Amino acid sequence: MSERVIISGGRVVDPANKRDEIADVIIENGRIADILAHVSAKPKRNGNGASNGATVIDAQGCIVAPGFVDLHTHLRQPGREDKETIETALRAAVSGGFTTVCAMPNTEPAIDSRGVVEMVRQEAQRVGLADAQVIGAVTIGRQGKELTPFAELFEAGCVGLSDDGSPVGHSLLMRRALEYARMFDRPIIQHAEDSQLAAGGVMHEGAVSTRLGLRGMPGAAETVMVARDIALAELTGGWLHVAHISCAETVDLIRDAKRRGIRVTCEATPHHLALTDAAVGDFDTLAKVNPPLRTDRDRRALMQGLADGTIDAIATDHAPHTDWEKEAEFDQAPFGISGLETALAVCITELIETKALAWPQLIERLSTTPAKIARLASGSLAKGAAADITVINPSLRWRVQAARFASKGRNTPFDQKDLIGRAVAVLRNGRLVYEAKEAGEA
Ligand code: DOR
Repeated sequence: MSERVIISGGRVVDPANKRDEIADVIIENGRIADILAHVSAKPKRNGNGASNGATVIDAQGCIVAPGFVDLHTHLRQPGREDKETIETALRAAVSGGFTTVCAMPNTEPAIDSRGVVEMVRQEAQRVGLADAQVIGAVTIGRQGKELTPFAELFEAGCVGLSDDGSPVGHSLLMRRALEYARMFDRPIIQHAEDSQLAAGGVMHEGAVSTRLGLRGMPGAAETVMVARDIALAELTGGWLHVAHISCAETVDLIRDAKRRGIRVTCEATPHHLALTDAAVGDFDTLAKVNPPLRTDRDRRALMQGLADGTIDAIATDHAPHTDWEKEAEFDQAPFGISGLETALAVCITELIETKALAWPQLIERLSTTPAKIARLASGSLAKGAAADITVINPSLRWRVQAARFASKGRNTPFDQKDLIGRAVAVLRNGRLVYEAKEAGEA
């Protein structure tokens, strides 16, 4: 194995170090040794080659970014290996450009004790592709009744706690959770939903749900909970992170809370940035997701929030399901979209091509800031940092073929859609963990 790798001639975008320039990234023994003015390394004609014993990755025309960090991934293992395993999820992660994923605890059993945290981390290490960090549960079994042993979970390495899939509905429990997590300087990650207002809903409550005769979840089901949690974050001084925000009013609430100095961060998903409830069309269960796809007004407000920094991170909410589950009638099908392998291209197509975001902003939302929220050393191309790097071809046009996903979950509303841009080479600790085999490969 060569100890030296040169990523040659790409546009190196590293918001953590305010770098945006054509350069060569020199990697030695898994770490970034230097970033130097580009010199032609005469790579072989197939693009990649060797120079003075170093492996050279020709990145001309590409963006070279710190590896992406997903704050919201459903790994499904333990318990639902028919939907996904840690191995298939991590394979999907690296092919989507993610070098770290944060695993949500709604597995079976839930990640509510040290033993399950360690199992997930050990299996991820065995697989050796992307890093898997763990988000523990707030309440035992995610039942919303009794808090988990926070000290044990944080000592085991959890980067935050969440009952995602369900909200922490009980206000006093949420208050205590914010208070205790504050002692560890970690966030409570809330799936913001008022269960009574959302009860029985299968999509956004609006014109489309009325036409289809489906029970809706109003935007207020989210905003009521976000408003409550902001009040509790203010009361406790705890750190609230709102997962997968979907409503214009949520963006306003969080913008205002940040202005008032309250410790709140949040994330939005590529599907909420790209799609509206119109995607449900004729009862398409592939567009059934929670929180639901909302209106174009909401979508535009999310774009605005992302551009002005109200929204800190883009997270996939990768939620793989089996085909047979999604083939059920709309009311019965599970919520969720398999997102790791389309996230980057959806963002490039919807945010970069439309000029809603510039490249440094997109990299910041996919890598720099999520790494900070999880308090990881990654998300930066600083000298000496572990070489977790994603090389992106920003203009490659390709058609999503869910049948060829590395994930077991083929449940995506983007199947057969034409998208722009993708990760072509991904390194973790300086080792090539993904390389696109052919132009336009999905
Ligand atoms: O659509 C969703 N799917 N939303 C969630 O909150 C949970 C997730 C899942 O685990 O399937």
